Amino acid sequence: MSKKIVFATNNKHKLEEVRDILGASFSVLSLQEIRCFEDIPETAATLEGNALLKARYIKAYYGYDCFADDTGLEIKMLNNAPGVYSARYAGEAKDSKANMLKALSELSGKLDRSARFRTVIALLMEGDEYLFEGTVEGNIIESPRGTAGFGYDPVFVPNGYNETFAELGTDIKNKISHRAEAVKKLKTFLDEK
Ligand code: IMP
Repeated sequence: MSKKIVFATNNKHKLEEVRDILGASFSVLSLQEIRCFEDIPETAATLEGNALLKARYIKAYYGYDCFADDTGLEIKMLNNAPGVYSARYAGEAKDSKANMLKALSELSGKLDRSARFRTVIALLMEGDEYLFEGTVEGNIIESPRGTAGFGYDPVFVPNGYNETFAELGTDIKNKISHRAEAVKKLKTFLDEK
């Protein structure tokens, strides 16, 4: 029988990716499936803090063992901004296009355009807390290219490729991404439990 675990998200892309990597031995439930419809506060100053806030919230109010993720784009010449504020870099509207344009404008004239995506997954299981991290290094190009993916994908070229994540498409992205790496670490841990 597959083990039930809650993933504190309603993002369909993330759910599909995580279900795919975790495989048939885990039954991953979304927030909607446990009938959690409120906005979980994400008020911490770090990715680790936000991932833990979300996972602890589900445990406290719904009683499930669960995991939650938080991701940020860290641009070296901007002191790792937007980082934990990636979703609302250009304002509360959480507009991906405006966020990308802000990053491009802040980087204008800078020679070093290196950046990385970093994902942190917090797992709450049997009373203990665990963190798993995944990163992918790359560079921010000067103007957006490609239509796949979401967020900053059209301006991020991972090392070893010439195309942006949005040009590479989800099949390749989901094999090499920050989130994929963090989820694989989570899977290794859960398989050994
Ligand atoms: P979240 O923590 O996964 O919700 O991500 C926060 C923000 O980071 C998103 O709103 C996106 O702007 C950005 N982001 C997260 N993951 C990715 C990704 O895989 N590609 C591009 N942008 C991402």
